[in-house]
Amino acid sequence: QSQFPCNFVIFGATGNLASNKLLPSLYHLEVANRLPPALNFTAYSRRDWGQEDWKKHMQLTLQDKIGENFDEEIFAKFSARFSYLQGELHDLDSYKRLYEELSKPKEGVCSNMIFYLAIKPTEYNSVVKNLDAVGLNKPRGLHRIVLEKPFGEDIESAHLLNEVLHRSFDEEQIFRIDHYLGKETVQNLLVFRFANTLIEPLWNRNFIDHVQITVAEDIGIEKRADYYDKAGALRDMLQNHLMQLLAVVAMEPPPALEADALRDEKVKVLRSIRPISKRSISAHAFRAQYAAGFVNGKSVAGYQDEEGVEKASATESMVAAKFYIDNWRWRGVPFYLRTGKRLAKQMSLIAIRFRYPPQQLFRETPVESIAPNWILLSIQPSESMHMEIHVKRPGLEMDTRVISLNASYRKTDEVPLDAYETLLLDIIEGDRSLFIRFDEVEWAWRVVDPILKHWAQERDFIHTYPAGTWGPEEANRLFDSEDHQWRNEL
Ligand code: BG6
Repeated sequence: QSQFPCNFVIFGATGNLASNKLLPSLYHLEVANRLPPALNFTAYSRRDWGQEDWKKHMQLTLQDKIGENFDEEIFAKFSARFSYLQGELHDLDSYKRLYEELSKPKEGVCSNMIFYLAIKPTEYNSVVKNLDAVGLNKPRGLHRIVLEKPFGEDIESAHLLNEVLHRSFDEEQIFRIDHYLGKETVQNLLVFRFANTLIEPLWNRNFIDHVQITVAEDIGIEKRADYYDKAGALRDMLQNHLMQLLAVVAMEPPPALEADALRDEKVKVLRSIRPISKRSISAHAFRAQYAAGFVNGKSVAGYQDEEGVEKASATESMVAAKFYIDNWRWRGVPFYLRTGKRLAKQMSLIAIRFRYPPQQLFRETPVESIAPNWILLSIQPSESMHMEIHVKRPGLEMDTRVISLNASYRKTDEVPLDAYETLLLDIIEGDRSLFIRFDEVEWAWRVVDPILKHWAQERDFIHTYPAGTWGPEEANRLFDSEDHQWRNEL
């Protein structure tokens, strides 16, 4: 348990992000007895509520999210940490009141403060400026600001946002969340790669044929058309979560397991990605949108019929892209990335395909080569690792067959923290290793920017796929070789 005393302000405390993610995760940390005793929360929201209204809201929200595991006693302890503050995001007077509230002496709480922006990105600027205006950005170091993606909507706006942040906060004070970095398998990738002599010597273009990163979801856009219809899958998922996965798969070993050492290596990968020229966009990127279909046996609406989606919207709900990393380790190895909503199932998978052995001693037929080896790192729904290798099929013939060595990362009685819980603890403890630095954001935008700009000019046509499928066949045009195909199964 962390001993850091801290005052944690949640802007947008009554909003979706707070209700769906923050409050349940913080509550779970309370259950696990991981919250420092001297941690207090200020719930900041526009609603004209008193303490009791907030407490009731929090109780109903948690009961809804946690169900029968909701525990009155834990809730009493948890809710006692909160005070509610009615305030506007744009109004300086509200921040003055916040300042006064935070200056009141509280037992055990020092000047260590966290400002969590669980609000629309369009509001980031005014919160940052107002915190600065009342001096809540200081002392630097002890005061932290936490932001959720999207960090901008293209390279220019991302750069502007970084400028606004840097005017008021030092980079060390800024925690940009990409919750994929909080997932167990993603952190495990570092251990898998850098703690095993067996793996790292093979982890390069001499042995690896290509890499696939899939983050498939079966859910639709839910009630988020307002945001999603302007964003699309490239901005919502690929620019951040998938690029981070790519960076962790491809990075060099850092000199130490420290925030900046790790982030330096990720930046090097992002900088080494070959820029996609205008002419080659269609060979490198593919987008599509779901039509009506069936998911888990239930009929679901098409994207265009989702509530709040603009008429004839050409926003992509699925994107696939191919990148090359032009460095000594990866030159010539395609990295295929894809993500989408309303795909056949929920599956997040990093699949590494190895090269064929140089000699085909066990060729199955005169023309067909035997299957290559794969390493599969499953992020969701299961957290596991699979290694596909050949063994001899029992019997007189010298036949081979592929078996999968399966390993679950954890023992059955170990319950890991969920990604948000891990990241929240890191914020409270001030560990920035799993947070995104400003230059990572900008380099990742630089990679996808040509695609965005090109698609923005071609707003009238988009491929469609029936909900509940793996997307259009046309996505296969990205493949470099006829024997490349998507892994849809473990
Ligand atoms: C969010 C995206 O960042 O990640 C959502 O905005 C997406 O559209 C979600 O559904 C996926 O996260 P997870 O952890 O459920 O895979």
